[in-house]
Amino acid sequence: MAKEKRHMKGRVKPGDVTQRVGVEQIEARGVNVKQLREKLIDAAGAEFTTYYYYTILRMHLAGHEDYKEICEDARLEDRAHFELITPRIYELGGGLPRDIREFADRASCLDAYLPENPTAASLLQILLEAERCAIRTWNEICDLTFGKDPRTYDMASRILQEETEHEAWFIELLSKERDGEIRPSGHFRRGEPGEAPYSKNRSFYNP
Ligand SMILES: [Fe+2]
Ligand SMILES: [Fe+2]
Repeated sequence: MAKEKRHMKGRVKPGDVTQRVGVEQIEARGVNVKQLREKLIDAAGAEFTTYYYYTILRMHLAGHEDYKEICEDARLEDRAHFELITPRIYELGGGLPRDIREFADRASCLDAYLPENPTAASLLQILLEAERCAIRTWNEICDLTFGKDPRTYDMASRILQEETEHEAWFIELLSKERDGEIRPSGHFRRGEPGEAPYSKNRSFYNP
């Protein structure tokens, strides 16, 4: 005998695939889903373009094997951030722009261009400022979702943990390279290149 259960029904009608309870519920808790979706697309654009530009920056750290390795971790972790957050955009009813040019243009951070006459110090400063933009971006997503959208918050806070580490790495390296000053980050090394200890997709989906 079927019984009424407290959560068996809601505003979304049974069988309606045009509405999402996963969206309705976070809207009811005060999330502006349209705004959040747009900010997530901008943030994903920044992760994707940063991954691209870090490829070039890493190449030009030639001769600095230690810097190359750390740049590579930050580069691959940005790819992991893009991979982690993109499915969430679709779950929220959004999607990536059809044209990659539009996607790159709307990125929430500036392009991390290779400077003219690159030196290790100039490259490290570009890396540092890209990480700082990422920290601002993911803190904003955390603020918009805290206590209201646990899934987006969890993803954003995982990404933010790695961005915060990345900033500390590049402060340490730039400080020593440019100013000869010791400002430790606490970093030793990732286990594998691009380890992404907080945001790795596989462990996220299969903890
Ligand atoms: Fe990132
Ligand atoms: Fe980063």
